[in-house]
Amino acid sequence: MEELLTELKSKRISGVGIPEDYALIQAWMHEIRTFNPTRRIYRINPYIEVYEFRKNVFSLFTQNCDGAGDVWMHLIVGPEKAMLIDTAFGLGDIKGLCDLLSGGKELIVVNTHPHPDHGYGNCRFDKVYCHEYAADTLRRQDEHLWDYLFDENGNNKWLIFDKEDLPVFKPYEIVPCKDGTVFDLGGGHEVELKWVPGHHSAHCMFLDKKNKILFAGDGICAHVSGEGSGMRPNDPYGKYNNLECYRAELRKLYERLDEFDSVFPCHFILDLPAKPLLDAMLEACDAILDEDRIDFEEPYITGGGEAVIRQYKYVKGFGILGVQKQNDGIRYRR
Ligand SMILES: [Fe+2]
Repeated sequence: MEELLTELKSKRISGVGIPEDYALIQAWMHEIRTFNPTRRIYRINPYIEVYEFRKNVFSLFTQNCDGAGDVWMHLIVGPEKAMLIDTAFGLGDIKGLCDLLSGGKELIVVNTHPHPDHGYGNCRFDKVYCHEYAADTLRRQDEHLWDYLFDENGNNKWLIFDKEDLPVFKPYEIVPCKDGTVFDLGGGHEVELKWVPGHHSAHCMFLDKKNKILFAGDGICAHVSGEGSGMRPNDPYGKYNNLECYRAELRKLYERLDEFDSVFPCHFILDLPAKPLLDAMLEACDAILDEDRIDFEEPYITGGGEAVIRQYKYVKGFGILGVQKQNDGIRYRR
């Protein structure tokens, strides 16, 4: 019997983690982390809280190593194979934990997008599937990925963790996939990769038709769903990174609501009701794109350190949609 721990090995010293100014997120995260009966921390990976919100669907909570929001990975265990959605920063033995939870089934590892909090743990695995537009970004990963997490004296900047528990970087196989690629976990249990750009040009969601769950990555987030950072250095697909493309792909998912009824993002509140949520997200997109209606705007520093203006529209009953503003409108429109 695997020994259990009661608390995570990591400890936040600065940054967001779980946003203190969003009461609903605070309340939901507090409730599940304190009282959910499925919560487990296994000694094999003391950086991950494991929850089982559906039978054989494990949601893996880990604190974000940099100053941004804490992260969910998700492990779907099918009849023959398991699928891990995202690898966070790679803290601790993620593969060992997945093997423990799946009973050692063959593991398919996929990325929603190549941001640090979703893909820096990839090198713990031999092979990772991603949208085809993410492949070049992932190929540029190297042993310096985690350098920025430490100050000039080698001290942790945002989160206390043991440096030894980061992965030792090794090259791994990157498999670029087209929109609509279907993964078979055995016995007809299919999970489909659905491209939904906006947060990143290569961002995709994963539709688990058996469990009727849409794993939404950062495309839907009970905080700020940040869409449309436009053209980025080293990204030839930046023309898709805007709100118009986001809305177009979200509308396609809306037409398929008979295939899923719940949404599991990669940050904060999970198990969101699909139809009212997509209704509200699309309504917010329409307000910005069709009527130029926003609720407020403020200066924003991007992950890459760029100072921009971000515009925000409230998403009814849920959160906020944030879009970067640019004079030519490209971050809104194609
Ligand atoms: Fe993220």
